[in-house]
Amino acid sequence: MTSRIVVLISGSGSNLQAIIDACNTDDYPGQVVGVISNKPDVLGLTRAENAQISNQVLSHKEFESRESYDLALISAIDQYKPDLVVLAGFMRILTPAFVQHFSGKLLNIHPSLLPKYQGLNTHQRAIDSGDKEHGVSVHFVTEELDGGPVILQAKVPIFPEDTADDLASRIHVQEHKIYPLVVNWFCSNRIIMSGDKAVLDGVSLPISGYASE
Ligand code: GAR
Repeated sequence: MTSRIVVLISGSGSNLQAIIDACNTDDYPGQVVGVISNKPDVLGLTRAENAQISNQVLSHKEFESRESYDLALISAIDQYKPDLVVLAGFMRILTPAFVQHFSGKLLNIHPSLLPKYQGLNTHQRAIDSGDKEHGVSVHFVTEELDGGPVILQAKVPIFPEDTADDLASRIHVQEHKIYPLVVNWFCSNRIIMSGDKAVLDGVSLPISGYASE
């Protein structure tokens, strides 16, 4: 059976596009049934529209508290009866109530080699630290910001003249490969969250996720 996926976005939605494209390939086990943005007029909404996927804006500015916004977001998502909720550049800190509601079926992509550089401005922080490599992580979401178990990472080199924008572009290429792959694993019931671990094909993964080197 095809899994029902809801994607949350705040911006350009290039990861959303990569997942939509993957879903349109033969035998892919998931389908994006809804896209929700907390910001109006973003490219990601146009991408959903072009793919004829139900989409809506739920603006956080119309709510008095983070808690009330997240409760409304839970209701909006639940209307789609999703098997999986994918955060794809959704730039909001989530409440414990939200995370608990979708526990075990909530994935995020974060542009760093977690546990390094949780939070914002990851590319500049990697450059400022003199790192030689940087990367991206797909992980299950838990109540700890960017702290849930990592499923898969991809690494990119940092060259001496790199700007944060250079790194962001290099990382996007990797994101568009690994996010559809992990979503495929989830929809095929190959990956689950068990306690504080990600488990792939019955094997608990180490903190950096599936080793792909
Ligand atoms: C991606 O690079 C993703 O890793 C990052 O936002 C970008 C969204 O791009 N996510 C975070 O920083 C989450 N903390 P997109 O809208 O083109 O998919």
